[in-house]
Amino acid sequence: MASVCFLGCGNLGTAILVGYLKATSSRGAVSACVTSPSSVQRILSILESEVPMEVSTVSVTCETQEIERCIASSQVIILGCKPQVLPAVGAQFRALFTEAHTVVSLLAGVKLAKLFETVGVENIVRAMPNTPAMVGAGMTALCGQFGPFKKSILKIFESCGKVLEIDESKFDAVTAVSGSGPAYVYMFIEALTEGGVRMGLPYATSLELASQTVLGAATMVGGTQNPAVLKAQVMSPAGTTIAGVATLEDHGLRAAVMNAVKAAADRSAELGK
Ligand SMILES: NC(=O)c1ccc[n+]([C@@H]2O[C@H](COP(=O)([O-])OP(=O)(O)OC[C@H]3O[C@@H](n4cnc5c(N)ncnc54)[C@H](OP(=O)(O)O)[C@@H]3O)[C@@H](O)[C@H]2O)c1
Repeated sequence: MASVCFLGCGNLGTAILVGYLKATSSRGAVSACVTSPSSVQRILSILESEVPMEVSTVSVTCETQEIERCIASSQVIILGCKPQVLPAVGAQFRALFTEAHTVVSLLAGVKLAKLFETVGVENIVRAMPNTPAMVGAGMTALCGQFGPFKKSILKIFESCGKVLEIDESKFDAVTAVSGSGPAYVYMFIEALTEGGVRMGLPYATSLELASQTVLGAATMVGGTQNPAVLKAQVMSPAGTTIAGVATLEDHGLRAAVMNAVKAAADRSAELGK
């Protein structure tokens, strides 16, 4: 397994780091580089509670010299900063990147060509994970040139969910479906919960019913089953479910979701210009 440096390790980077440490006992060196002592403390305390046996195996630092040492001694660099600070990160560390590195970017909307301009190495992978990576149920799309570390890079993302390789030309659509998608699903869970409250359930009970129902339905679909077939299995003739489904159709649920995906993909394309 390659040695890995998380250059910028906030919410998403830490989730991927923890997933990777939990899933792999035999691996190369791992480091996490941030900008402030408070972030070092934050990461160390998450590691302490999530993977206590691994705390001493990870170098967590905000010292420039140590960050430079981590970059130079790693094979895979996971860029986990925000897109706005990419130019500053590039200016600060570009001289340390060599053709022996593969750079994997988590940055939403930043294209491979822009990443190449910034870091100047051939082997660059663009990743679009989503926040359920934090509970090991993420969906990550990957594209780009993996170099010699493909197995290690796949392992890193598979440790926090599913992984698909998808051409970069489809990344705006991917962003709109799986990147932004958790927010749409949270809205649905919220609405289902409040519907239950409207009909007399306590909020906590309704939330539990709604969230477990979404989890169960997603597990039934499992990425491959046709949801229309599964939906038909729930609807008895003239029953309760078809009454609810007809109301959702009347209010344009499907058109609203499809239009939301188009709006998010259009926005992603606009931000990527
Ligand atoms: N959250 C999502 O749903 C999602 C989904 C897909 C992709 N993404 C992408 O994932 C990336 C990270 O998102 P996030 O939510 O994890 O962000 P975040 O919590 O703000 O983390 C950003 C990290 O970058 C570090 N950083 C900032 N400037 C730096 C510098 N000059 N050198 C080194 N490190 C630096 C920060 O250090 P400090 O901790 O010291 O401030 C922090 O650890 C973003 O580019 C975002 O577009 C996010």
